Amino acid sequence: MKTTKMLSQKKQNGENLAMITAYDYPSAKLCEQAGADLLLVGDSLGMVVLGYSSTIPVTIDDMIHHGKAVRRGAPNTFTVVDMPFMSFNVSMEQTLMNAKKMFQEIEPAALKIEGGQEVTEVVSSLTEAGIPIVGHIGLTPQTVNVLGGYRVQGKSEKEANKLIEDAKEVQGAGAVALVLECVPAPLAEIITEELDIPTIGIGAGASCDGQVLVYHDLLQYGVERLPKFVKSYTDLNELTTHALASYVQDVKDNQFPQEEHTYSINEDTLKGLYG
Ligand code: KIV
Ligand code: NA
Repeated sequence: MKTTKMLSQKKQNGENLAMITAYDYPSAKLCEQAGADLLLVGDSLGMVVLGYSSTIPVTIDDMIHHGKAVRRGAPNTFTVVDMPFMSFNVSMEQTLMNAKKMFQEIEPAALKIEGGQEVTEVVSSLTEAGIPIVGHIGLTPQTVNVLGGYRVQGKSEKEANKLIEDAKEVQGAGAVALVLECVPAPLAEIITEELDIPTIGIGAGASCDGQVLVYHDLLQYGVERLPKFVKSYTDLNELTTHALASYVQDVKDNQFPQEEHTYSINEDTLKGLYG
């Protein structure tokens, strides 16, 4: 698996980083085959895979279960795994134990933590312990109930300045990359220029050093409504529903299975069966 050096090198060379979320073996395998630079086992899995209405119910065990499957599917891709709700903003001792468990069992390249100045101590402690950390500021879905909904962050001067400060402090604490979610493109550009580590945007414009999208969003798979910042590259809802409905109809109409889908048996053996 690629190292964290790859991240700053690509930023220096001006090469964009393409990141996709993945939650299981087949999605990870397909992303690796597609040449993704980075994978994210996002706690968005709570919504797009497990059907919760937010990321808040997601547990450490959920992340380990899915993270291990992703690692099996994409053993050669730089994989980042989200620390879920309330797993890193508890006591430092508990935070270190949670991160240790996730890092040892999943063996990812890095863990990701939501938050700005309020998590810098965690970022530096985990980094010192040997766990590379990716930061995440702007819209941080784990605190959606405090933010007052899923909406763009950093629109006012005060909010924007706080995000710039957050970005610098998270980098200063040792983060190896920083996700910027739902921030105005010009603000993301300022942050990207201020930092040495790569920014990875989602709803943060084209100036970021990389982009990330949720697998199920970009493929339109099982999701109904797409946020403004998503470009959909195919419609698996339609393709999958059509294929599944065709199978169901074939079974009802005696059109499946056909000869080519069945196994034969030697004639003599068959005669023996009927005596
Ligand atoms: O969980 C997730 O998918 C994320 C991305 C949206 C950055 O954190
Ligand atoms: Na997440």
